[in-house]
Amino acid sequence: MEFFCSHFGQYCSSTMLLLIILLHLLPLTTMDSSSPSFISAEIFPQTVGHGSYFTEIEVGTPPVSQFMVIHTGSDTTWFQCKPCDCDQTPGLGFDPLNSTSFSVVPCASNACNHLRQHGCNNNSQCQYEVDYLEGYSTNGSLVLETLTFGSTAIPSVFCGCGHSNYGMVAGSNGFVGLGGGPLSLPTQLRLRGLADIFNYCLPGLFGGPAGWLNFSHPGAVIPAGTAWIPLLRNPKTPAFYYVGLSGLGVGDVRLPIPENSFKMTKQGMGGVIIDSGTIFTKLPKPIYEVFRNAYIAKTINLPRAPMSPLFDMCYNLSGLELIQVPNVSFFFTAGPILTLKIRNILVEHESYIGERIFCFAFVPTNNRRSIIGNTQLIGIQTSFDTTAGYVGFGPNICSPPEDSPHCHGHWPPRSIGMENYITPNPLLLVCLFTCFYLLINTSV
Ligand SMILES: *[C@@H]1O[C@H](CO)[C@@H](O)[C@H](O)[C@H]1NC(C)=O
Ligand SMILES: *[C@@H]1O[C@H](CO)[C@@H](O)[C@H](O)[C@H]1NC(C)=O
Ligand SMILES: *[C@@H]1O[C@H](CO)[C@@H](O)[C@H](O)[C@H]1NC(C)=O
Ligand SMILES: *[C@@H]1O[C@H](CO)[C@@H](O)[C@H](O)[C@H]1NC(C)=O
Ligand SMILES: *[C@@H]1O[C@H](CO)[C@@H](O)[C@H](O)[C@H]1NC(C)=O
Ligand SMILES: *[C@@H]1O[C@H](CO)[C@@H](O)[C@H](O)[C@H]1NC(C)=O
Repeated sequence: MEFFCSHFGQYCSSTMLLLIILLHLLPLTTMDSSSPSFISAEIFPQTVGHGSYFTEIEVGTPPVSQFMVIHTGSDTTWFQCKPCDCDQTPGLGFDPLNSTSFSVVPCASNACNHLRQHGCNNNSQCQYEVDYLEGYSTNGSLVLETLTFGSTAIPSVFCGCGHSNYGMVAGSNGFVGLGGGPLSLPTQLRLRGLADIFNYCLPGLFGGPAGWLNFSHPGAVIPAGTAWIPLLRNPKTPAFYYVGLSGLGVGDVRLPIPENSFKMTKQGMGGVIIDSGTIFTKLPKPIYEVFRNAYIAKTINLPRAPMSPLFDMCYNLSGLELIQVPNVSFFFTAGPILTLKIRNILVEHESYIGERIFCFAFVPTNNRRSIIGNTQLIGIQTSFDTTAGYVGFGPNICSPPEDSPHCHGHWPPRSIGMENYITPNPLLLVCLFTCFYLLINTSV
């Protein structure tokens, strides 16, 4: 992975500005020394080999453990609630009658009006509904409840108590809504002074160390070596995190794809989002075809294998000792280039697990909107600073060195080149540390 980072300057000034504003506001806010400055939870793959990621949180008082999908493409955090008309409920499910910290939210509240789809039941209680791009849906009451991440309990979080849920991600009890809209978890934490940034690192699918999902303040977590890219907003879909993508590369060639084919139109169509609810990056069909054909052209020496139901280009790499495959790059309008590793480009064919049949892990879509999915971000720390409006990629610090145990020892990392990071601008570090220490000293 390699970054060409030209936006530290810009980032630094917006962070400075933010910190200065924060310094002035501090004595007025309710943030006290007991507020957690760091909220952290582990994340892990759904089941070995699939591509959704879960975190385990505890809901209510006494706390009941729930397995939740982490989802940057939506705002509502919700869990299956009794009584439940549900496809499946692993574990006991959550019974609101058993929790002393549970309360319902009236229809007349602001929070209820912030929901994209809301209603009112007979008792004037707020009802929500969410229908996901992937076909899942949930419907129930908007409530206030205590959520516990790792060792940190966060009281009174607006969340959904889902009484009718369909097409659940197998093994999950609900979703953590990490989107950019008014009721998402990051927005709620930010408005309460608990966290301004969240970041996560998706671990590999085949064992190795777990990943993490952390919520924190800018001074505490901005990792050296992160390439920051401005987030773009679409008023029609406030939950989505859009980024300006300008092109794709294969090997050392930038492909002849017109830059505006990735642009969001004035009507809010098209564009490129980062969605942890999507497993493989989706590209509009004409772009996908140029991209795939360029990849084929660079791999004509590799034996092909039958297509899979999901992917239209697969390779039979059994018996090959040393494999040289081209890398793939995302070119962002702001300047940075994100170059992916093999494990972000090729995945095992689902019908031949363990036989070293690998497929090009991108899929075409008839939609005009492109989606950067989980597979392409495995092992790449992804940070969202929603206050300053940036998403950051890297450094690559959260994954095992091998791509998967099936490839262990056969899949030489040296064939994909060195990992170079741009050294962060020393001025940025000085400015951040100064501000951070000032912040700590004034707040105690
Ligand atoms: C709710 O509480 C009852 C009585 O304490 C207990 O039997 C039941 O298992 C609890 N249900 C859940 C879902 O925790
Ligand atoms: C709402 O009230 C009507 C009439 O009292 C009742 O028939 C209906 O079951 C109630 N619906 C719900 C969801 O409670
Ligand atoms: C939510 O589910 C309830 C119960 O199944 C149903 O009556 C109601 O129409 C649903 N609401 C929406 C908005 O779909
Ligand atoms: C996130 O939290 C985990 C566990 O507390 C920690 O190991 C990791 O270094 C943190 N990451 C960042 C970027 O702060
Ligand atoms: C990607 O591949 C091209 C062509 O082989 C090479 O020049 C470039 O250095 C590679 N980039 C990275 C980051 O490995
Ligand atoms: C892959 O190639 C090997 C020989 O190199 C062959 O035995 C095997 O059947 C092939 N697998 C598929 C799925 O084509």
